[in-house]
Amino acid sequence: MFLRKLGMVAALLLPASLNAETGYDAWLRYAPLDDAVASQYRSTLPPTITILGSGPLQQSAQQELIRGVHGMLSRTLRVESDVSNEPSIVLGTLDQIRRRFTLTASIPPDGYWLKSTTLNGARHIVITAANDSGVLYGSFGLLRKVALHESIAELDEKQSPAVSIRWINQWDNLNGTIERGYGGPSIFWENGHVREDLKRVNDYGRMLASVSINGCSINNVNADTRVLSSDLIPQIARIAGAFRAWGVKVALAVDFGSPKTLGGLDTYDPLDPSVAAWWKSKVDEIYRVIPDFGGFVLKADSEGRVGPSTYGRTHADAANVVARALKPHGGVIFYRGFVYDHHMDWENPKNDRARAAYDNFRELDGKFDDNVIIQIKNGPIDFQVREPASPLFGALDKTREAIELQITQEYFGQARHLVFLGPMWKETLEFDMRIRDRATPVKKLVAGFVGVSNVGTNENWYGNQMSQANLYGFGRLGWNADLTAGRIVDEWTRQTFGDDPVVTKAVVDMQLTSWRTYENYTGPLGLQTLTDIVGNHYGVAVEASERNGWGQWHKADANGVGFDRSVATGTGFIGQYSSSVMKVYESLASCPDDLVLFMHHVPYTYKLHSGKTAIQHIYDSHYEGAETVARYLRNWKALKGRVDDDRYKDVLAQLEYQAGQAVVWRDAVNNWFFKESGVADTKGRVGRHPDRIEAEAMTLGGYVAKPVTPWESASGATAIECAEATCTASFKYNGEPGWRDLLVQYFDQQDGVSHFRIWVANQLVDEWFAADRLPTRKVDSSSSTRRTIHGVALRKGDEIRIEGIPDGRETAALDYVEIVAAEN
Ligand code: GCU
Repeated sequence: MFLRKLGMVAALLLPASLNAETGYDAWLRYAPLDDAVASQYRSTLPPTITILGSGPLQQSAQQELIRGVHGMLSRTLRVESDVSNEPSIVLGTLDQIRRRFTLTASIPPDGYWLKSTTLNGARHIVITAANDSGVLYGSFGLLRKVALHESIAELDEKQSPAVSIRWINQWDNLNGTIERGYGGPSIFWENGHVREDLKRVNDYGRMLASVSINGCSINNVNADTRVLSSDLIPQIARIAGAFRAWGVKVALAVDFGSPKTLGGLDTYDPLDPSVAAWWKSKVDEIYRVIPDFGGFVLKADSEGRVGPSTYGRTHADAANVVARALKPHGGVIFYRGFVYDHHMDWENPKNDRARAAYDNFRELDGKFDDNVIIQIKNGPIDFQVREPASPLFGALDKTREAIELQITQEYFGQARHLVFLGPMWKETLEFDMRIRDRATPVKKLVAGFVGVSNVGTNENWYGNQMSQANLYGFGRLGWNADLTAGRIVDEWTRQTFGDDPVVTKAVVDMQLTSWRTYENYTGPLGLQTLTDIVGNHYGVAVEASERNGWGQWHKADANGVGFDRSVATGTGFIGQYSSSVMKVYESLASCPDDLVLFMHHVPYTYKLHSGKTAIQHIYDSHYEGAETVARYLRNWKALKGRVDDDRYKDVLAQLEYQAGQAVVWRDAVNNWFFKESGVADTKGRVGRHPDRIEAEAMTLGGYVAKPVTPWESASGATAIECAEATCTASFKYNGEPGWRDLLVQYFDQQDGVSHFRIWVANQLVDEWFAADRLPTRKVDSSSSTRRTIHGVALRKGDEIRIEGIPDGRETAALDYVEIVAAEN
């Protein structure tokens, strides 16, 4: 009997201890707590659980509590159908609770109350709320407290969300790809239809609910008209079904031309009665199948999407015609403020994309129906590494607005670089717009939070374990924008990696500094991310933003750098802010260094508030950024044995890659500015790499030297490529003897798996395959990557020989080898 019981317990516990840590469970791992801590909770936590309602949300809450308590405390809560004289965790809405307990409170929708109370001599923990969603959020809240070792002995905690709308946008295409998604294909769609197996949708719903997200649009804002077709609506209803138990409403991005392209009308003019009727009948059709449908997201008149301008109508006309169809059902429309002309004349110094959102929407304030929400990106351009808060936040008095934050790291290293965005989002949320000269932080102006998440079928959802912190942080800020980034990342780390203070310290340090670090090596001082604006938005291409209509100009030339957006001499963008904010940005004397080049054009020798010149800041920050990533890597290595092996290796590989890529960025940006400005680095580093042997300077067998575009993507602007079956590149080591690390900078395009081998004095010391799927087919900074061969004993005169074997269209291309003292 005893043994049988033991067997059962072992079976229950096994999965937690033996399962590979893939990251799938994210922060909801519920890993066993230390015995000492666990035993305290075991003695306070009631052994039974009761739900007073019968709906799916309370059932999910009950299951979650059972799962969490089992995982963390190895106790299986006993389900009771009603409150008895035994201590119990009791879940119910306030109405339901009032029938059993003498507890009353006023709690806003979705908020919750965790309350210890006594009934007939038994101690209970009550989780109550105005609605079932609140009960679910309260249950996650209680589990979070346990995971964070907070006391649950005398609970009396009321919490409620800052905003009622906390939505996710997924930019999934119906064919299963995801625009700007870096975690694999869609969890919703494949080959034009909804996936058969929606388990991951259910699990995603659980993750979203755990941070109180209550809506999710499931297709690309560059919407495919077919998403509204009658064939797909019943399939979308299945997704709604999978989300329902977690209180996440399904929503769709729609194409404004749908009445014509899908409905067969000859117009999509928002003022045409037949168009209004079409939207109404389409929306009615959706609600017949999905009664709790959330609503629509609409991108119109932007980046090639059709919109009301076709008929000379306004954005308000467009938003309202759709809003009126949704209104009787309680649905909302998110109308995107991301409207701009991408064919702007770059030679007109008054043209400025940053002005667009305000210029398009300001005049329409008061003209939108009340179920229209204007969805505004945090900054006026497009999720750049640093932007000021969008002035549109302060310009709409009579219109509901939501802040759009990008969780997926489009301009932030696409899940290959560690960047925690919490501190950046906090900066926008806390930014004081000084409306009518009163404190008006952005967080007080917004009625909703929308996060562009783009998870995929990758086991860890994003393709990077650390990126999950961004989803967690987004949800937590939507609940309570007053939380600090430090608090959020501390919570995330301890739930995700366990409670070892050494791990927590290292991870929190990395996450909290990672935005600044990334900014340092990709585009400081408000330059924006100096990436390939017209291509993959990933690698470095300093000039890609210039001389085209997309308007992400930084205007660097031989004489100076930065975009004059001042009222006095520039585009007047700064005038879109309230007068007190305007004053700060308008004058170089008060404009913060972080945004100086976003707001002003200055000579390279312009002295910043820090005392450095602009150019020296650019050089220094790039060195600092790359060095900081190298430090992250060292700090992570120190955690070996403290983090489970699977995730340790995952993060290690990611940081190793990032450390190499940060050097690519550093050199490219610095070389570019050095060449353009002609101003030398006072520390003599830029353009000087004494430990580097350029591939084109080696003795080549079959390899051919080729210029790389843009030139700054490769050291010496040149790479060597192999067009034969096998090629070699060799050189003699002329340095001092000793232990050395060899850093081989090579190119790994996505259309082939080249093979490399390296010999030192005729001894094979390493070989590898270039099998990554970096986002390019070209030899450029996106494919540039690094192999480190640690601890080789080198002697003067040794021949170092690399053999490259191309594959497919990949040419086993090489950039350089750098030889440095071996790291300890
Ligand atoms: C960015 C992104 C696009 C996206 C657009 C948007 O420009 O690169 O892929 O469609 O934002 O937010 O609509």
